[in-house]
Amino acid sequence: MSEAKTITLNELSENVGKRVQVRGWVHGIRGSNARQFLSLRESGKIIQVLAEKELLSEESFQEIKHLKQETSIEILGTLAKNEKSPIGYELVLESYKIVGHSENYPITPKEHGIDFLLSQRHLWLRSSKQLSILRVRNELSFQIRKYFYENQFTLIDTPILTGSIGESAGTLFSTKYFDLGDAYLAQTGQLYLETAIFAHSKVYCFGPTFRAEKSKTRRHLTEFWMFEAEVAFADHNQNLILQEDFVKTVVKATVAACRNDLKVLERDPEPLLAYMDRPFARIDYNHALEFLQSKGEDIVWGDDINAEREQMLTTEHGGPVFIEKYPREAKAFYMKVNPENPKTVLNADLIAPDGVGEIIGGSEREESYQNIVQRLKEENLPLESYEWYLELRKYGSVPHSGFGLGLERLIAWICGLQHVRECIPFPRMMERLYP
Ligand code: 4AD
Repeated sequence: MSEAKTITLNELSENVGKRVQVRGWVHGIRGSNARQFLSLRESGKIIQVLAEKELLSEESFQEIKHLKQETSIEILGTLAKNEKSPIGYELVLESYKIVGHSENYPITPKEHGIDFLLSQRHLWLRSSKQLSILRVRNELSFQIRKYFYENQFTLIDTPILTGSIGESAGTLFSTKYFDLGDAYLAQTGQLYLETAIFAHSKVYCFGPTFRAEKSKTRRHLTEFWMFEAEVAFADHNQNLILQEDFVKTVVKATVAACRNDLKVLERDPEPLLAYMDRPFARIDYNHALEFLQSKGEDIVWGDDINAEREQMLTTEHGGPVFIEKYPREAKAFYMKVNPENPKTVLNADLIAPDGVGEIIGGSEREESYQNIVQRLKEENLPLESYEWYLELRKYGSVPHSGFGLGLERLIAWICGLQHVRECIPFPRMMERLYP
């Protein structure tokens, strides 16, 4: 096989008509006594390999016919265009070599239950839909970084092990930290991002975050990836303008790059793109409450808005909705009090339609030293853990705002998936720590 060039399935267009070698895995096989069609997987892509009986010895043809799913193999053949194949090319087999055998691969083309597939996640990653979902994840992560790079934001990598509680004491993973007491897995990078605006003005972070939430819903993970941005001198309104432009830009770019993957996932992207061409609705919490009460919902001022009610609001507005200015008590200590109604804060959650729910939480931050100390006391948070954070309000405090977006929820929306568990390579949920 020495004279043929070894290529990947990313290099097909420039090798049409050439003898090439491809090394990959048997994704599936079908055919007749005259020819076999082998699906070969490599670089997350699948190409059809045509094995013609008359071009091979009887022994080779029979061996190919009985190849097992996930056998690893080197194929030498000629690359041809084939408009009928999803990838646009096929390989006509000349010879092959088995690299690694595979027996009784547990995931077969028949239907499997979700629990079984999640426990086989280390193998399930090889399946067609999973290839597409993680490729969308890859593209979206890239587009997010690109957006912030091109808009002059500086990447600040915030710590995973933290001493201060970022969001709520009720959902912390903690671990003993030498002689210094408890350390917590980061629920957010926000407090650290706030320190960095004084140095770089516009900053972002992108990394894993942790919530020991006892929620078994289709949108909760205990470990998820959050993208967060923070901007000096930006007020609440500017925060919403940035969020809307950001979501529209990255969604459109990801859809454009992943059309084939969305086809595999049977996701028609047109309704999603239509949302991106219209302004996102904005409603105050108070108005959301009035609307829900008018529909007979048993909800009172101060209650959080649950998933079903969020869906009622997105249906009413025909697309994504920012719900602004929540009751102060329902939200985190760092949110700025609304000067026009001090019972509320200058925050907003962005709710996606199609049952996806909240994808962004953000707010203008409290900039006054006294107000923030008071809020920490109200929440019974230990002031000494926040000394460093409070100093930000002493040395040149400025108005500032920011937000956080849950990557897996945005992937679920783009891919049209009902659950976030397939949107991350190895989901961590209350009942799942393996593989
Ligand atoms: O609304 P959250 O809790 O906001 C923060 O953590 C702020 N510190 C962000 C900021 O202002 N810098 O979370 C932000 C987003 C949510 O809108 C949701 O998309 C996602 O993170 N998220 C989760 N995703 C999956 N599983 C969970 N358990 C999640 N909790 C939040």
